[in-house]
Amino acid sequence: MIDVASLNLLKGKKALVTGIANDQSIAWGCAKAFRAFGADVAITYLNDRAKPYVEPLAKEIDAPILIPLDVQQEGQLEQAFEKIKKEWGRLDLCVHSIAFAPKEDLQGRVVDCSKDGFLRAMEISCWSFIRMAKLSEPLMKSGGALFTMTYYGSQMVVEHYNIMGPVKAALESATRYMAAELGPKGIRVHAISPGPLKTRAASGITEFDKLLKKAQSKAPSRSLVSIDDVGVAVAFLGMDGAKLITGETLYIDGGYHIID
Ligand SMILES: NC(=O)c1ccc[n+]([C@@H]2O[C@H](COP(=O)([O-])OP(=O)(O)OC[C@H]3O[C@@H](n4cnc5c(N)ncnc54)[C@H](O)[C@@H]3O)[C@@H](O)[C@H]2O)c1
Repeated sequence: MIDVASLNLLKGKKALVTGIANDQSIAWGCAKAFRAFGADVAITYLNDRAKPYVEPLAKEIDAPILIPLDVQQEGQLEQAFEKIKKEWGRLDLCVHSIAFAPKEDLQGRVVDCSKDGFLRAMEISCWSFIRMAKLSEPLMKSGGALFTMTYYGSQMVVEHYNIMGPVKAALESATRYMAAELGPKGIRVHAISPGPLKTRAASGITEFDKLLKKAQSKAPSRSLVSIDDVGVAVAFLGMDGAKLITGETLYIDGGYHIID
């Protein structure tokens, strides 16, 4: 069998991956896959408390850039992109794998959601992707690809997904609009929709184990996805060979979304 990683299909590409909290994070699956296909990968960590978990992972993939990024901290996103501009002068791939909603809003009904909780969830989980696209645009001089992570609960009412449903729906729509706007510059924009994965973010969702069981039994593949499954699919979409695919919401869920 061909060892596809050895083909170095992302060799020379410069990638920024945000949203790694630990080695269970979906973003880590993306960073590993990018590196395996030959890209140089810059990664971010939320704050000093998160740094000890992320730093060893950065070493594992020889990340030349490791920078703090809390999208709610004024100016931090701009600083991250400044660093990339200074070190690399360009960017080819950018992964947004960030989401947050305050627990009381996430675990309550959409009807009861607070204004502050709603705005915070939208700012961190959706607006930050739009800002990343804006900052990536001048650095993606020869085109590029932007990715964000979404979930099926944007399309269908998934029990306990609550306020993240409308937030992810906005994120998927923003993906399509930005794909249309940036397409003429050769910049593709995708939303990636993985099936449920046991991560830190997922632990905030009530009865998440039930969701995992349902996903496994209903998906045509009868299996749960891994962060590596997600990473390899994202890496494929980042390759030059995928240059005419854009604006997608790509399900990586063993086919769950096609079954009634
Ligand atoms: N786990 C799942 O089942 C699943 C399924 C589909 C989509 N997703 C999406 O995948 C993405 C990544 O989540 P994950 O499951 O890997 O969990 P995770 O907890 O590993 O990652 C979430 C990341 O968001 C970051 N984050 C939160 N607030 C931030 C802020 N203010 N500034 C910068 N970063 C911030 C955290 O630091 C963390 O790294 C999220 O968008 C999530 O909604 C997850």
